[in-house]
Amino acid sequence: SDPDLVSRAAAAKAALGDRVFVLGHHYQRDEVIQFADVTGDSFKLAREAAARPDAEYIVFCGVHFMAESADILTSNKQQVILPDLAAGCSMADMAALPQVESAWDVLTELRIAARTVPVTYMNSSADIKGFVGRNGGVVCTSSNAKRALEWAYQQGEKVLFLPDQHLGRNTAVLEMGFSLDDCVLYDPHKPGGGLTPEQLRDARMILWRGHCSVHGRFTLDSVNDVRDRVPGVNVLVHPECRHEVVNAADQVGSTEYIIRTIEAAPAGSAWAVGTELNLVRRLALAHPDKQIMFLDKAVCYCSTMNRIDLPHLVWALEELVAGRVVNRITVDADTAHHARVALDQMLALPG
Ligand code: 13P
Ligand code: SF4
Repeated sequence: SDPDLVSRAAAAKAALGDRVFVLGHHYQRDEVIQFADVTGDSFKLAREAAARPDAEYIVFCGVHFMAESADILTSNKQQVILPDLAAGCSMADMAALPQVESAWDVLTELRIAARTVPVTYMNSSADIKGFVGRNGGVVCTSSNAKRALEWAYQQGEKVLFLPDQHLGRNTAVLEMGFSLDDCVLYDPHKPGGGLTPEQLRDARMILWRGHCSVHGRFTLDSVNDVRDRVPGVNVLVHPECRHEVVNAADQVGSTEYIIRTIEAAPAGSAWAVGTELNLVRRLALAHPDKQIMFLDKAVCYCSTMNRIDLPHLVWALEELVAGRVVNRITVDADTAHHARVALDQMLALPG
């Protein structure tokens, strides 16, 4: 990265000292991650933001929904900054509040809403988390989806899982013993979700039709190809991948799990990793004694994560040094209150 920008970022951070805390998601670019005070998956970063009450500014190098969660979990005095406002998430955008409310109306008319617990993946807007909190549900991440679902099924008979169909299906079927027939796919663009009342009544798991545009690109062919090319390879994927990909993989887990698994792997072992490319490249560089490869060369970076680059980070930090807060992310008090109920419920899950 540009040496001038590197020294400007370092100088701005030094000038701000403890007043600023920089969080970096594992999918961020190298040029940005070098300035993160802490790196993590979305669960770890939510907890880290909540654990820094003294930092006036939280600069969130990640995507919009993560910055919103940080704002919800921190005090009103703390300001959360997203260096580029265009860093959204296509998956989070697949569930808009009016769509979810109308799905809930469908369940209410069928008299099944009262027995249904809404569960939303962290990768959703604050509005959706607020809806879930208002309706007795919980937030989950890829590291605690099973625990969140177990909790939800103690509260009710059915779950409406938002917005990632793959995380919901993979957790229910591969970790909780559900059958594929226990799950139905609710399409927000079709009346009644494109499902019959019987299908909705019979389902234990109502999956929202959303997916990650990065992880959704890995295919069963990519798994078969790498097994042909590299005998003995271990296939390690994120649970946002399609069901048939996760089913064919050797191991599945969140980004923190993927990192721990690679760190613990013996020298000489071979790993094909199905998650975001920035993370896989860093893992390969950090472990030259292991053969670490990207599961499918046709899959590319998360384009919105990559929006946060060094020029944007330098700009946000230098503006803070000059006493100006740019790109602040705030969630209105009512939404934040209800979203916090669902987030606190997640943070209180056992284990
Ligand atoms: P985790 O950080 O929870 O593994 O989520 C992956 C992801 O896609 C974040 O956008
Ligand atoms: Fe969203 Fe997928 Fe990018 Fe994560 S990797 S921010 S889920 S589009």
